[in-house]
Amino acid sequence: YLLGLDIGTSGTKTVLFDKEGAVVASATAEYPLYSPQNGWAEQEPEDWWNATVETVRTVLAKSGVNSADIKGIGLSGQMHGLVMLDESGNVLRRSIIWCDQRTAKECNEITTRVGAERLIEITANPSLTGFTSGKILWVRNHEPEVYQKCRHILLPKDYIRYKLTREFATEVSDASGMGLLDVPNRCWSDEVLQKLQIDKKLLAKVYESQEVTGTVHAQAAEQTGLVKGTIVVGGAGDNAAAAVGTGVVQDGRAFTTIGTSGVVYAHTSNISIDPKGRVHTFCCAVPGCWHIMGVTQAAGLSLKWFRDHFCQAEMDTAKGMGVDPYYLMDKEAERIPIGANRLLYLPYLMGERTPHLDPDCRGVFFGLSAMHTKYDMLRAVMEGVTYSLRDCVEILRELGINLSDMTACGGGGSSPLWRQMLADVFDCDVKTTVSREGAALGAAILAGVGCGIYTSVEQGCAAVVKKNAPQSAIAENTQRYNQFYEVYKNLYPTLMDNYK
Ligand code: XUL
Repeated sequence: YLLGLDIGTSGTKTVLFDKEGAVVASATAEYPLYSPQNGWAEQEPEDWWNATVETVRTVLAKSGVNSADIKGIGLSGQMHGLVMLDESGNVLRRSIIWCDQRTAKECNEITTRVGAERLIEITANPSLTGFTSGKILWVRNHEPEVYQKCRHILLPKDYIRYKLTREFATEVSDASGMGLLDVPNRCWSDEVLQKLQIDKKLLAKVYESQEVTGTVHAQAAEQTGLVKGTIVVGGAGDNAAAAVGTGVVQDGRAFTTIGTSGVVYAHTSNISIDPKGRVHTFCCAVPGCWHIMGVTQAAGLSLKWFRDHFCQAEMDTAKGMGVDPYYLMDKEAERIPIGANRLLYLPYLMGERTPHLDPDCRGVFFGLSAMHTKYDMLRAVMEGVTYSLRDCVEILRELGINLSDMTACGGGGSSPLWRQMLADVFDCDVKTTVSREGAALGAAILAGVGCGIYTSVEQGCAAVVKKNAPQSAIAENTQRYNQFYEVYKNLYPTLMDNYK
């Protein structure tokens, strides 16, 4: 058996797979996201660890599998979050996570210190508020007493690795999102570290995704029920892990995920960088390969926000029926025509990355009328997120990337309505994988490569990942969505000056 752990933004998901990739048992535990100020986002690393312990224990109990039969563990997780530990390994402050937008000044400081062109040459990306380097400088500038005590800097899933193995390690895909990695050469950049005056000793050792980074430690074994000595591989950031879990490990393949964030991701064996920095280029989980992706900050987050604040009745009904509230919301949105009766939504609840790179913009409903109901708003939210993903698609196409082999995954990918919307709005076929476990499956496949069950990441994917027949675009729908997308595209440039 192989165990995949995904330390997400809304919760941690632990899935036990057999070596054919079939799910033996899975468990999820949620935790809060703190937003102490507009545009700030923090989480408690101990919440991630408690959720890990709880879900591993549940999975072991549910499956009845003897933990000695688990050959390897793979980690996946939300990228970019900053975890700072003192010399005894204690957490120094809440983690500032990927969607936090407080670091615009620090990003300018980084660009000035390294030089805009040099920064893109080395790290393959500009300095963005989502990335970790700005968060490190923010703590140094605003909480010098915390920074002084800091001896270790880790990413979210690498903190869980530390708790499991006591090793300070990371891997190339997640490390790419720190803004400190030499992405073409897959190692820390001495030049960037020196220009930013960040001590390399604070950073973890960088591995490739399938490499063994350590084994389960006695104390973690006692807490989780895992066996001491079980190997833990590098794993990958959630998007690179989802790529493995959906078989997007060859040129010409791409996926779209709607989790808390939304991503359009394409694999590439030749490093390719957007000179305008609108899409990210990171190392992927296949040695010697990269990926290029556009990110929309509040994709599933927009729908979750709408659910939590406007859909209490649907949540209660769903509870009574024993179904997922999103299922009922989907049914309601399906009844509303394309274009939500001329209502548009801009999903900028947490600023936006692709294509605007604007930490200050915020969400908009445009065109509200007295005839609209909350279900028009619900449909508009789903459409607005899809238009924002179309913005990512447009840039990737502009860079010459072929997106015709597209797979949908993440929570949003399990909605038939949203999948059809993706196919119609992107005007391409959209497939799904038979296993819906995306990132957790990817992490488990990487563990399988690390412990020798599979010979390579590609072979592991070929053995495990199976796809369903695609959903195709419906020409008439595409045409209607295109009309609304044109209006959607006009709105941000009209509004942008008002966000400052
Ligand atoms: C990617 C990104 C998000 C997080 C969310 O750059 O910030 O997709 O990984 O989990």
